[in-house]
Amino acid sequence: MSFSSTNAAIKRDTVLPSLEVLAQAREKLVSKLPQNGIGETETRRHLTEDIVPALNLSSISPNYYGFVTGGATPAAALADNIVTQYDQNVQVHLPEETIATEVEDKALRLLCSLLDLKPDDFPHRTFTTGATASNIIGLACGREYVVTQAALKLGLRADEVNVGRHGLLRTCKMLGIEDINILTTAPHSSLRKAASLIGLGASSVKLVNRSDAPHRIDLAKLREELDKPWTVNIVAISCAEVNTGFFATTGLDEMTEIRKICDEFGAWIHVDAGKHTIHSISGTLLTLASLWRHGKTLEGPGILGGHQRKRRSRAC
Ligand SMILES: Cc1ncc(COP(=O)(O)O)c(C=O)c1O
Repeated sequence: MSFSSTNAAIKRDTVLPSLEVLAQAREKLVSKLPQNGIGETETRRHLTEDIVPALNLSSISPNYYGFVTGGATPAAALADNIVTQYDQNVQVHLPEETIATEVEDKALRLLCSLLDLKPDDFPHRTFTTGATASNIIGLACGREYVVTQAALKLGLRADEVNVGRHGLLRTCKMLGIEDINILTTAPHSSLRKAASLIGLGASSVKLVNRSDAPHRIDLAKLREELDKPWTVNIVAISCAEVNTGFFATTGLDEMTEIRKICDEFGAWIHVDAGKHTIHSISGTLLTLASLWRHGKTLEGPGILGGHQRKRRSRAC
């Protein structure tokens, strides 16, 4: 179904459907699997006439003040619909069959440029389905990196010991690692979720915040945590705390210092910028380029360093 075919239904004065419209729509929800399919015409009618009037106008309206899940500009909506209609597979590079993977690659290069990062310094770029997914992949990359650093310190080859091959438990045993921590300030809840999913556990997220400014990193505390024996660390920098817009760092000097400390201890830096990356551009914070040496992921509108994966992106 094209986006425009629902336009008639969304031309209404109120941002929220009335309770009556909601009740009517609820009545019309299909609650029993029909014996036979209802067909495209009836499906179209059901969606546009029964369901659409009962949706709120969210990002379609400037006056929706509810939970914002991200808006789509008309250009992004068009692109998203093309993605749906053409259903390309960007997991596989097929240059004689489609331009899809090259479009994605160019888009990621442009995004790097927008953030003042050199695309060639950042070869493993990818889009993810959202910021939580970026946190998951970013932390997973970090997990591999810190384990590899521990293996190298013991004189082992990087490919000899890794989580993919031996699993987290056995790898840590082999390397004498007792703890993998994620050091952060003001983490978005999805960071703990990501930590659980990749087997580090939500409780591995530890705060290294300053007491006078909880969103800021206390560099002395950071160093103290990184220096703990039998422990390896991922440092997650909250680029902009979602509710307040506060930043974990104040500028290039602090970011460079964090980079230096992390290099000293073999820690990985992951930047959780959520949907705020673009907002950060105008701020003094945008010194992320200083991170781009090794051991880094930037989680923003689905961009990160790490293994290249190809996915359908969110409209952002
Ligand atoms: C800093 C940050 N990280 C992660 C997320 C999770 O984003 P998503 O809902 O796209 O998974 C958000 C969402 O607001 C966020 O602000």
